[in-house]
Amino acid sequence: MDFLKILGQQKIGGVVEIGGAKNSALPILACSLLFEEELEVDNLPDVVDVKTLVRLLEYLGCEIQWQDSHCLKISAKRLVHTKATYDIVRKMRASILVLGPLLARFRKCEVSLPGGCAIGARPVDLHIKAIEKMGAEVKIENGYILAKAPNGLKGAHITFDKITVTGTENLLMAAALAYGETIIVNAAKEPEVVQLCELLVKSGVEISGIGTDTLRVQGRGGEPLKKQSVTIIPDRIEAGTYLCAGAIANAPVVVKRVIPSHLQSLSDKFKEIGFHISQNSDSIGIEPTSRRKSFEIITAEYPGFPTDMQAQFMALATQCEGTSVIEERLFENRFMHVSELQRLGAQITLKGKVAQIRGGEILKGADVMATDLRASSALILSALVANGYTQIHRIYHLDRGYEKIEEKFRSIGVDIQRLKE
Ligand code: UD1
Repeated sequence: MDFLKILGQQKIGGVVEIGGAKNSALPILACSLLFEEELEVDNLPDVVDVKTLVRLLEYLGCEIQWQDSHCLKISAKRLVHTKATYDIVRKMRASILVLGPLLARFRKCEVSLPGGCAIGARPVDLHIKAIEKMGAEVKIENGYILAKAPNGLKGAHITFDKITVTGTENLLMAAALAYGETIIVNAAKEPEVVQLCELLVKSGVEISGIGTDTLRVQGRGGEPLKKQSVTIIPDRIEAGTYLCAGAIANAPVVVKRVIPSHLQSLSDKFKEIGFHISQNSDSIGIEPTSRRKSFEIITAEYPGFPTDMQAQFMALATQCEGTSVIEERLFENRFMHVSELQRLGAQITLKGKVAQIRGGEILKGADVMATDLRASSALILSALVANGYTQIHRIYHLDRGYEKIEEKFRSIGVDIQRLKE
């Protein structure tokens, strides 16, 4: 297994180019199942989660032609299976994204239940309830969701009890080929959901309310989509992570090829802490500051502060003045990184969903373990300011969602090596 070895307290700074968003690539790849001709997807991030979904689509019978490491053509003209098996779904919960499109286009599917994950139970009950409302018959058997709609899905009025990103995406794809209108209330508004809506619209699906919490989708009555191409939007979480590297090391870092408005809540938080943020049409820069104030964060759905940046800001809080407070509202167990940060000397107290972080600590390099994707990047950020070497183990979590992570950190002057255990 690989691990990372990082030497802390080095002078860093520079420019990082941001890749395509993993969380947009996944629903868009799943959406290829709605097309009877090929869908070309460009600016795909070269990360393990994307490879996992491509493998699942290939298993289902899709033809895949890679144009280069970031671009592929995918054709779901004929499938050989409509079953997403446990061995793939357990590797990546987001495989649940094939449920809506498989059911809408092929009128039946079997998708393994994803099970628990490091950050909590993460059920898929809302996905299931929604397709049932569209007329699907659903059974749970032997750990699989068995769904069928022999006469096609029917438009329905669905109010999500909770805002769910992949739930909204699944339902959008199901509604695209359904008979009649589907109204989705309490829909997610993340930029990745908006990009999926825009692809569907470009492909002939009528959708109104894009970017709001009420979406109205006019289904195409079983008629599949034709040929299309799409370029994945930049990854706002990857961009936020490198800006956090600048913030924690108090060094100048610029992220390029981003959509600044997608990072508004992060830019606002950096400014509140005391950083100067510069921005132009496709880049954001963070500059060193003489004073970093403590801050409060409550994670929320977009456009609120993203839960996927919570761990990285916790690392930053260790270097700010006073005590910062972070409340995790989306996931029940997304504080696995706390004990690892404590191994580096961070002073954090945890009560339920609230963490209090005492700033101004000098962290000391140690062996730590990555626990989930974003928690792992918080450990790299902490290592940048820790005394001596930090070794981060179980970095397969990082490879799921960050492309060329050592190369990108090295390009801003970080002394980082990938080694074998
Ligand atoms: C997506 C993102 C993930 C991000 C999360 C929240 C992808 C591939 N992943 O995950 O990076 O951290 O949004 O922004 O886009 N819930 C239920 N029942 C359901 C579905 C969700 O109770 O059927 C709960 C979840 O347990 C969680 C909350 O709703 O507490 C939000 O989860 P959701 O938005 O669905 O997260 P994902 O779509 O899995």
